[in-house]
Amino acid sequence: MMRSILVTGGAGFIGSNFVAHWAATRPADRITVLDLLTYAGNRANLDGLDAELVVGDIRDEGLVASLLSDRGIDTIVHFAAESHVDRSILGPDAFIETNVIGTHALLKVARREWLEKKKPHRFHHVSTDEVYGTLGPNDPAFREDTPYAPNSPYSASKAASDHLVRAYHHTYGLDVTTSNCSNNYGPFHFPEKLIPLFIINALHGRALPIYGDGMQVRDWLHVEDHCRGIAAVIESGRPGQTYNIGGGAELPNLTVIDTLCAAMDKAFATDPSLGSRFPDAPAARGLPTAALKTFVTDRPGHDRRYAIDCSKAMAELGYAPTHSFESGFAATLAWYLANEHWWRGILDGSYLDWVRENYADRQAAQ
Ligand code: NAD
Ligand code: TYD
Repeated sequence: MMRSILVTGGAGFIGSNFVAHWAATRPADRITVLDLLTYAGNRANLDGLDAELVVGDIRDEGLVASLLSDRGIDTIVHFAAESHVDRSILGPDAFIETNVIGTHALLKVARREWLEKKKPHRFHHVSTDEVYGTLGPNDPAFREDTPYAPNSPYSASKAASDHLVRAYHHTYGLDVTTSNCSNNYGPFHFPEKLIPLFIINALHGRALPIYGDGMQVRDWLHVEDHCRGIAAVIESGRPGQTYNIGGGAELPNLTVIDTLCAAMDKAFATDPSLGSRFPDAPAARGLPTAALKTFVTDRPGHDRRYAIDCSKAMAELGYAPTHSFESGFAATLAWYLANEHWWRGILDGSYLDWVRENYADRQAAQ
């Protein structure tokens, strides 16, 4: 079946990887991206991809309605969100606006344009494992029926959006699916999140700020595996159902950071040109990147452990992650080293001021 698909937030990290995946695997489909190009959105993420970018807000119901009718859109894949927990702690309002009000605006338009006009459709909502709260060391991994217990303004706003999506199915019969995934990593990851931030800090010889004791556990999912999982849910997921998508790579932050430091040292040892490109990196002088590790004040309300049980997606959709963390991380580091122009463009923008101020606060608070 050919689709005309609207990807909200398609100029962000996961959305743009999804557009690349969908365009490569379903070349006959038409792809429209709706993205507000906030600090996290980047036109360059879509360079060379066969997709039309419409710059606009998911809360703009008139715009969304005209996109659905003018382009004959039958599938929405909804990524657009405020996505960073630390920002949600400092300023929750934008999270309510985009994640809750924005998702509801999309649902309202989908109901009007699709249900009331009796058009075949699918609304896929991309969510997070953070809605389930935090796990103790021996708790079983999150399943689709794990009760919601969001702890941060970010996860609370995502939980609210998940409930609205569910309600539009239950009450009005909108054809929806939802996926809740674990921490993604890979190319085009915005450098405020742990892995890309630490790669870029290490290249500049800046501190690697580890929150608390660094023993928080995340289940790392390569973004390509996530995109394949989402595509499987869109095409084969049952209406109204939720699917958990994980990477099967549960690791404490310190293990992730030590892997990153060791890989950085090895990259500099094997490629002498890195030393001249990044002279401020400790590895350029033969020193260990791990010397940059700095323990800082913990994030307030920091969730201790996330883990995903994705057996439902495996059984129903044939989903399985293909990247181990080791191979996925090595490919990701290689991508950041080969695509300096991409992250340089972001560093030259103003977002880093926010990051630097945030670190200054955390380090001063020690
Ligand atoms: P991101 O922050 O990189 O990208 C978000 C995109 O949404 C940006 O391009 C931004 O410009 C756009 N956007 C923001 N507000 C908008 C608005 N009002 N209208 C239109 N566009 C708007 O986020 P990401 O990491 O790619 O995450 C994508 C989705 O996946 C989010 O819904 C997030 O909650 C979810 N998720 C992410 C992760 C992860 O590890 N990154 C894990 C689980 C779930
Ligand atoms: P992050 O990438 O922000 O994702 P999330 O909070 O959604 O899991 O953080 C991943 C983990 O790394 C989390 O436990 C917080 C921790 N972390 C640090 O220790 N230092 C940092 O500078 C950042 C950004 C995160």
